[in-house]
Amino acid sequence: MKEKILNNQDLYQMLDSLIRKPKPFWEEFYEDRDKEIPFFQTKQPDENLVEYFHHYIKPRTALELGCGPGRNAIYMARQGCEVEAVDISENAIEWAQERAADENLQIRFRCGDIFQMNLQEDSYDFIYDSGLLHHLPPHQRMKYIAFICKVLKPKGHFGLVCFTPEGGADITDWEVYRHYSMQGGIGYEEERLKELFKKEFHFHTFRRMKKMEQSDDLFGEDFLWTSLMELRPSLDDFI
Ligand SMILES: C[S@@+](CC[C@H](N)C(=O)[O-])C[C@H]1O[C@@H](n2cnc3c(N)ncnc32)[C@H](O)[C@@H]1O
Repeated sequence: MKEKILNNQDLYQMLDSLIRKPKPFWEEFYEDRDKEIPFFQTKQPDENLVEYFHHYIKPRTALELGCGPGRNAIYMARQGCEVEAVDISENAIEWAQERAADENLQIRFRCGDIFQMNLQEDSYDFIYDSGLLHHLPPHQRMKYIAFICKVLKPKGHFGLVCFTPEGGADITDWEVYRHYSMQGGIGYEEERLKELFKKEFHFHTFRRMKKMEQSDDLFGEDFLWTSLMELRPSLDDFI
């Protein structure tokens, strides 16, 4: 029987079919490297990521989700981390590999959808996402958080950069499906974002990104939230 809904997987598949396919969209997005996109014009890492490394964390292993052209993965590798970085776009991964090679840095870049990746459980001290979550449709968020909790080590850290309402579209979760679109990315109110993570994570920091100038050593746009979280212990950790 075609188009059946007999279980959760069928339901998720139906919802996926209502939203644009991510792979072709992101491949085309990276075709022209000279585009006027804020993070295309800079190789600098996020200002909040640099703050985390200076003041809060010293990870040995790090995973970047949706690494794009690699500026944050490269920063983490320069800090001595063993870095694995994933992106769905081959064009983005190629670009990131070229940049890492220019600096003689060893980073394990992998092209693929984070939801199809087979990564080992409890294996990263730190996971970073700068700009992926707000491009995920609402029904994929639970899977996204479950994935992070699975591959992060106990008490591991998670860093997030995500659209504020000024940075992204002001739409409800239901409207995404009513209009078959995330309108360029979902803008999150503070409470909406905290609601998603507060059960599994403790927030160390939650603030707007600081606006930086092109000439600065760091990247920053004030229409983005930044947060550093720590995985709460689960019941399994006590058994
Ligand atoms: C806004 S860009 C941010 C790029 C990079 N983090 C930066 O800030 O320079 C979002 C990235 O997420 C990637 N992406 C989107 N959906 C993905 C998925 N399901 N799995 C892996 N990567 C994905 C896109 O290809 C894109 O590079």
